Amino acid sequence: MCGIIGYFGKRNAAEILVDGLRRMEYRGYDSAGIACLNDGRIGLVKNAGKIKGLRERVDASEQAELLHATLGLGHTRWATHGAPNEINAHPHLDASGHFVMAHNGIIENYKSIKEGLAKHGIKCVSETDSEALVQLIAYCYNGNLEKAVSEALKKVKGTYGIVVMTDHEPGKLVAARCGSPIVIGIGNNETVVASDASAIIPHTRDALYLEDYDMAVITADGVQMFDLQHAPVSRDVTEMDWDSDAAEKGDYAHFMLKEIFEQPDAIRNAIRGRLDFDMGTSILSGLDFSPRDAAQIGRVLVVGCGTSMNAGMVGEYAIEEMAGIPAEVEQAAEFRYRNPIVTPHDLVVAISQSGETADTLAAVREAKHKGAVVAGLCNVVGSTIARETGRGVYLHAGPEIGVASTKAFTCQVAVMLMMALKLGRGRRMTRHEGEKISRWIERLPELIEKVLAQDETIKAVAQKYADHENAFFIGRGYLYPVALEGALKLKEISYIHAEGYHAAELKHGPIALLSENTPVVALLNNIPGKEKSIGNAEECKARKAPVIAVVSEGDEAAAEGFNDMIVVPDCPPCIAPIPTVVALQLLSYHIAAARGCEIDQPRNLAKSVTVE
Ligand code: AGP
Repeated sequence: MCGIIGYFGKRNAAEILVDGLRRMEYRGYDSAGIACLNDGRIGLVKNAGKIKGLRERVDASEQAELLHATLGLGHTRWATHGAPNEINAHPHLDASGHFVMAHNGIIENYKSIKEGLAKHGIKCVSETDSEALVQLIAYCYNGNLEKAVSEALKKVKGTYGIVVMTDHEPGKLVAARCGSPIVIGIGNNETVVASDASAIIPHTRDALYLEDYDMAVITADGVQMFDLQHAPVSRDVTEMDWDSDAAEKGDYAHFMLKEIFEQPDAIRNAIRGRLDFDMGTSILSGLDFSPRDAAQIGRVLVVGCGTSMNAGMVGEYAIEEMAGIPAEVEQAAEFRYRNPIVTPHDLVVAISQSGETADTLAAVREAKHKGAVVAGLCNVVGSTIARETGRGVYLHAGPEIGVASTKAFTCQVAVMLMMALKLGRGRRMTRHEGEKISRWIERLPELIEKVLAQDETIKAVAQKYADHENAFFIGRGYLYPVALEGALKLKEISYIHAEGYHAAELKHGPIALLSENTPVVALLNNIPGKEKSIGNAEECKARKAPVIAVVSEGDEAAAEGFNDMIVVPDCPPCIAPIPTVVALQLLSYHIAAARGCEIDQPRNLAKSVTVE
């Protein structure tokens, strides 16, 4: 949820920390701070609000510690406990001022820890759960920082990714994780610790990922790894495949717009080398399924949250249609707590762009515990879900910085289609049918380019509806999850109360909300159910709701009588979700832009939800 960073090397720590926080700002952006250690003293600057404000404070600061330090840590926050303000911002000092820490996660038993410390006269100054941990570390300190950290961590319940330092040991940083991601970049005479790769990439490509209950001690001699009992542990250094430019906006006004326009290439990367036209199937080697394994699969359960869950719903339709295997989509948080019936013949597919979403990770652990075959579908290489599932498919969509997910969704759907194709060819689908679908998947970049070419048209439609405060999206079949996704995008970035519904569901209640102030985006693509959906759109029009009709090329007549029309390429039902959602992404983007919203960092959101 938050982004934490640590640096130990030869260069100006403050500069590297603030730049790293800027690159991780999508993880949380309501307050931030850095602490640097120089000449045995700790310098600290915190700021309520964006990293830009923190940079100004750091640049204006005369604190020698900040100006000359080559050791430090920092944090950008998504508040869980305590309002976003300077006192609650991280890094947190302990009462003595000798220990400082940045934390990502939730310390569930922080109240009892604070009460226990208060009995020893140790008072916390902030409302945060995190401060309890640095106070506890200081309380446990007996001359060795990593010993104090492990002793304190054995007393906490909850999740953490932390970096800590003390002016008692000025040549050392300690990092540890349980539930929240920590990656360590091994550079040339320097080490960078961070919550994700985006803050590491500008400095090195060599990274090692901490597992739960790992602790790393970083000194001038490098990185030593231990578990909380101080037994040495070793983790492989892996090479990260992103370049730092990929995490820059370029000429685009927003990362979201850049990522929308990156989709043709992102899809090309997601399908490259994965379509076998001769056999009419897909090659998803990461799934590591023999045809015999695939034949054993009795049901597919897809778990995820938000946009990833919506992509899973398209996959559900495709798997049932192409492979005839029962498929279900589960909201990950519900799956992990409702004690689901899972058997060894179940394939559980965990979809997560970040690969760090706490509820999806817990659903993976629950499914593994129940003996299911578990596979991940992730974008971030080396992420926790990718490592814990041990089998799966990377999207190769490149870094997705905009909080509102776009290219990850279309790549997730493309991979789910390839998974359905593979399972289908292992059952009743013919080679010819398989080849036809493979050819359509191969054409996806071209279909998306056709939609992107209409950006100005869609922008004009968007500007007509930017002042509304409510909106509906309706669709049937493969387009029902697209209606949900369209509504989610508009909600996230424009703060319009948008709802997605199955077109047939309106009459069972939601239609009561319709008026001239509630535009309806009706997905009337030329696929089965179109006539019914047109009927539902007519019912909306009858209640004076303006209707924006999304129709297939060559079937513009379907939009007759409605207020506005957006045309997307004509294609089979299983393919339609991808070009259609790109049109809805652009519609939402231009509505939010017309409303002057913070599109890349919408209020109250964060890119990766690493707490429950
Ligand atoms: C999507 O735009 C949102 N950022 C959010 O719903 C997101 O899809 C959800 O938090 C899941 O994230 P994940 O794919 O990284 O697991």
